[in-house]
Amino acid sequence: MAQAMHRDLLDHRLVIVTGKGGTGKTSVAAAIGLAAASAGKRVLVAEMASDEAVMPLLEPDGAPAGYPGREVLPGLSVMRVDPFAALSEYLALQLGGRLIVDRVVANRGFRQLMNGAPGWRELITLGKVWHIEQMKKADGSPRYDLIVVDAPATGHGVAFLNVPRVVVSAVRTGPLRRHSLAVEDLIEDPDRTLLLPVTLAEELPTRETVELVARVREEAGVRVDRVVVNGVAPPPFPSGLEDLDVALRALPADARFGALPPAGVLADCASFLRARHALNRGYVEQVSELTGLPVLCLPLLVDGVERREDLVRLADPLLAAPELPA
Ligand SMILES: Nc1ncnc2c1ncn2[C@@H]1O[C@H](COP(=O)(O)OP(=O)(O)OP(=O)(O)O)[C@@H](O)[C@H]1O
Ligand SMILES: [Mg+2]
Repeated sequence: MAQAMHRDLLDHRLVIVTGKGGTGKTSVAAAIGLAAASAGKRVLVAEMASDEAVMPLLEPDGAPAGYPGREVLPGLSVMRVDPFAALSEYLALQLGGRLIVDRVVANRGFRQLMNGAPGWRELITLGKVWHIEQMKKADGSPRYDLIVVDAPATGHGVAFLNVPRVVVSAVRTGPLRRHSLAVEDLIEDPDRTLLLPVTLAEELPTRETVELVARVREEAGVRVDRVVVNGVAPPPFPSGLEDLDVALRALPADARFGALPPAGVLADCASFLRARHALNRGYVEQVSELTGLPVLCLPLLVDGVERREDLVRLADPLLAAPELPA
């Protein structure tokens, strides 16, 4: 059943892709970026991980996008939001001098000190995303129609989204409070921002996703209205052959078809495919039922997600109206 109240994914200003490690966040973020650019939008995919993973999917031999970012395809830019680069930029803007700030931030002792300090990375990274969201072109229109954030794995839930609010409640005046308020405003604006959890149709990711959505509802004021279930095994048999495993099982186990293994072995393979699909469907239903959210199911691609063509295959199901599984 299509959910009429779900806004098109591409109509947001900010989509934050999150989820457990290895569930497909980067693939999903890159696929959304590609789809948005194909739809004529100006889109930025902003990576928060320390290694660039989006760029190799879009341009296998291309140079890294780095902090300044790069337009990979018409309308599609990629950047890595390095927290130290963002900190330099922020401090330079605040203090009015780039050279000295760059030297301080590049200093090893300073970095060691900062590596132990909590919260600032999240704040500065989200601050940079806010800054980009505010950027305008000469004609006054937004520099980017859509920003897709490839967020860090949710080892710590979505605590990173709460940092601006924590700062706002702790700091009473000054630019830090003002900037944190602006970031909080963006994140908590349901018209602009969507948190998009990605999971696999398996036990552990399902459980963690259900917890994640519950935590988001309790703690973070960010909108979450659909869950991406990635790597879902397709229906096992072509239409019209839905009972293939049953038909094979009904044959004498040693019946043979040319050089193929006996019918009993083929029946086992077919039963495995059916069971795999059923297991996946069961978790898809669980995710939806236990979160109360409709889902977008992405197909399992046999060779993984490595090239632009693979991203194109994920785009249609990502942009579809989210559904409550039957
Ligand atoms: N739909 C899919 N079908 C098959 N393989 C997939 C699919 N989606 C992702 N993969 C593969 O799963 C692996 C993890 O995907 P990806 O890097 O997008 O996940 P991630 O959540 O960003 O991981 P990390 O937490 O390490 O950043 C990759 O090898 C990718 O090719
Ligand atoms: Mg990733």
